[in-house]
Amino acid sequence: MKTTEILILGAHGQLGSTLIRTFGVGSAAIGLGRSQADLQKLPELVSTLNALKPKVIINAAAYTAVDKAEDEIELSRQINGTAMAELAKWCRENDTLLIHFSTDYVYGSSDKTYPALKESDPTLPLGQYGKSKLEGELNIQKSGCRYLIFRLSWVYSFEGNNFFLTMLRLGQERESLSVVADQMGYPTYTGTIAEALKQILPMAQKPGFSQWGIYNFAGPDFVSWHQFATEIIEQAAARGWRKKTQEVKKLTTDQWPSRAKRQLNSRFDCGLFKKTFGFQPSEHALGLRQCMDEFQKKFPEKFRN
Ligand SMILES: NC(=O)c1ccc[n+]([C@@H]2O[C@H](COP(=O)([O-])OP(=O)(O)OC[C@H]3O[C@@H](n4cnc5c(N)ncnc54)[C@H](OP(=O)(O)O)[C@@H]3O)[C@@H](O)[C@H]2O)c1
Repeated sequence: MKTTEILILGAHGQLGSTLIRTFGVGSAAIGLGRSQADLQKLPELVSTLNALKPKVIINAAAYTAVDKAEDEIELSRQINGTAMAELAKWCRENDTLLIHFSTDYVYGSSDKTYPALKESDPTLPLGQYGKSKLEGELNIQKSGCRYLIFRLSWVYSFEGNNFFLTMLRLGQERESLSVVADQMGYPTYTGTIAEALKQILPMAQKPGFSQWGIYNFAGPDFVSWHQFATEIIEQAAARGWRKKTQEVKKLTTDQWPSRAKRQLNSRFDCGLFKKTFGFQPSEHALGLRQCMDEFQKKFPEKFRN
């Protein structure tokens, strides 16, 4: 039976779609969405893996509804926790490399001095989504498979549901916006993640590579949601896209109640990633420009005046 080189799970999510475009599907990589590889249907998932025998699995599938997770505890654990144990077990038994993504929410840091978080820092998630993702990390770690887990923060793209698209839309609908200004993090364009992965993968596949583990993945700078919203709206206006918003007001997290408690600090120390893989992801402003370029190519008329 022919062996698949790279299998991308969660192929229709915002990160999965970008990975599919970056790696290209066909000869070397294939992508499966939920209907073909469901993390809630583990026997079927194992049969699919047995049929494809991938050398590398990139798992971009996850339960990602942060607020809903507070009411769907079992479901979020099943998808982000239990299924990761099964996936990692299969990878160990088949000597397959597992690339997985985790989240800033595993840290649960609300330190208002915003220290840069290291992989070795305590993990005390504030909500169920973070807890379920942490469970997944631990299950992968103890499986004995070869794995790289990249903790990401504030992921966005020109498709899917995300802060970038919401701010673009609101920027042309409302005179005034209010955005949280006391949560700090690194907005990460899916294209930046996919390009980095493309560089890393050959290194990780070389015989002798042994630095399996968890890595923070983000760029050198960090901003608040308020700063990010302002940047999106200003850059859109600079491109001649329709703009209604005149003012972006600052809110505190306390003034923006949500079902799941949000941490204040998602600032990452990415020294370990840089030391291991020899480069740093591109700066946030560059990612935003690239995302806007792609958006403009895909939907040329959407935001025109
Ligand atoms: N978005 C962020 O800000 C952020 C931040 C930090 C880390 N991350 C991590 O980055 C990774 C990618 O996230 P994303 O932003 O691309 O999320 P996303 O757009 O929500 O994509 C997640 C994908 O997982 C699929 N999925 C959900 N339940 C599944 C199941 N039972 N079986 C198979 N597939 C299932 C979804 O399928 P459906 O389309 O059918 O629902 C969706 O396509 C995740 O591990 C996430 O935890 C994200």
